[in-house]
Amino acid sequence: MAPQTAALERDFQRFQRELPRDFPDHVRLTYRIDLTGRYLGERIPHPIGKGSGQLSLNAGQLEDDAAAGLAFVVLKTLIAQDETGAQSMAAWAIHETKMQVERRRSATGRTGWTVTWKGRGWDRSLEEYLALVRAGRDLSRAEGLLVVPSVKYHLPRLGEPFRESEYRHTTGRLAEAWRDAPLLLEKDFSPTLAGDRLAEDRAQIVRWLWEVPERIRAAAPLPVRVALKLMNARFDDDFQLEMMQAARGADALVCFNRLFDEQRAVAYGGWDLSDRNLRVLDTPGTPGLRPGSEPPLTPRASAGPPGLVGTGNICSGRMIMDYARRGCESVQLHTFFQLPLSEYPATHGSRAQRALHALVFHPQDGLVAVLLELEALGRLERRGGELHFLDLARDAHRPR
Ligand SMILES: Cc1cc2nc3c(=O)[nH]c(=O)nc-3n(C[C@H](O)[C@H](O)[C@H](O)COP(=O)(O)O)c2cc1C
Repeated sequence: MAPQTAALERDFQRFQRELPRDFPDHVRLTYRIDLTGRYLGERIPHPIGKGSGQLSLNAGQLEDDAAAGLAFVVLKTLIAQDETGAQSMAAWAIHETKMQVERRRSATGRTGWTVTWKGRGWDRSLEEYLALVRAGRDLSRAEGLLVVPSVKYHLPRLGEPFRESEYRHTTGRLAEAWRDAPLLLEKDFSPTLAGDRLAEDRAQIVRWLWEVPERIRAAAPLPVRVALKLMNARFDDDFQLEMMQAARGADALVCFNRLFDEQRAVAYGGWDLSDRNLRVLDTPGTPGLRPGSEPPLTPRASAGPPGLVGTGNICSGRMIMDYARRGCESVQLHTFFQLPLSEYPATHGSRAQRALHALVFHPQDGLVAVLLELEALGRLERRGGELHFLDLARDAHRPR
């Protein structure tokens, strides 16, 4: 057995009981692998974060995620409001608690996981959300866990104006709570929006994606970086690419939120989701890719292409690699942090710790194993003696 394979087996075994929070340093020292990723222009010690949803609703969850060593957490999506408290997207602020973690068979016959849930956005007050943002800010500063709010703002019909007061009031309050520039923000275009009549018109969606980043920047009292979390629209792959093109003014694109099951009226994930997402991202010319050039480490000006973030059915390091080789510089997961404990190889720790343990150290499908595998196949080269995770995104869409 090669020395690195033996070391990986050993790490996998011993970290089953407890994953060291500084595991990226350990990976660098032991395997000479640099796991650095990037999210919204920020360098992060590894590419794995938590997507917005039911697992980022309170400070306790954030503390556990900081302790586990997650790179970033996106807070549950807030529904924007104006200074009178009016919410044009109020239909998304509904209360629903019960979630069902289920197996789901894909069109190609593979069984994966999905979370079935009828709820939508944040259903408590703006003040409570701001308290969570402040808790996140303190954790970001003290513990290095990047915490990012997510918002659903007014989306007008074609010919109607944007309700600027919602953009101004909500962004202003978030900026006040966060205090320091830049404010990092995700704007969610959700699967339930994709299933809504509002999203039946392609030209309308294109206009939103084109205009929303600028609306948010114009509404913010301090510099802001905007990630658009794109939905899987109910149109073909070409339209998915058209949406990415339209969203070029964003600083990052999260690709792509869950699919919408019209019959059951619920969002879903699993292999159908990753199949679609990877197929779309596989198209040469996808924005965010700069063949042959080193991605910049500073936030890009809006003239450059947005950084890509993968989401959807990420349950292994191998799947992280699949997104990375299509240009994604980080990934955000939800479902994999919700599985029954028996599904994780780790025997102790929080779900975030157990998930990270499998994603990074699994001897066949963990990130370390797949990066070493790519090296052995001659598809990834060491620079300065190290393999770099971000080189996967840099080399995306080069001939493999
Ligand atoms: C129960 C549940 C609630 C979610 N809520 C939100 C949300 O409020 N805002 C958002 O942007 N994404 C939301 N998501 C999407 C996730 O952040 C993630 O992008 C998506 O589920 C795909 O990743 P996964 O396959 O790892 O779950 C939600 C997902 C689930 C399962």
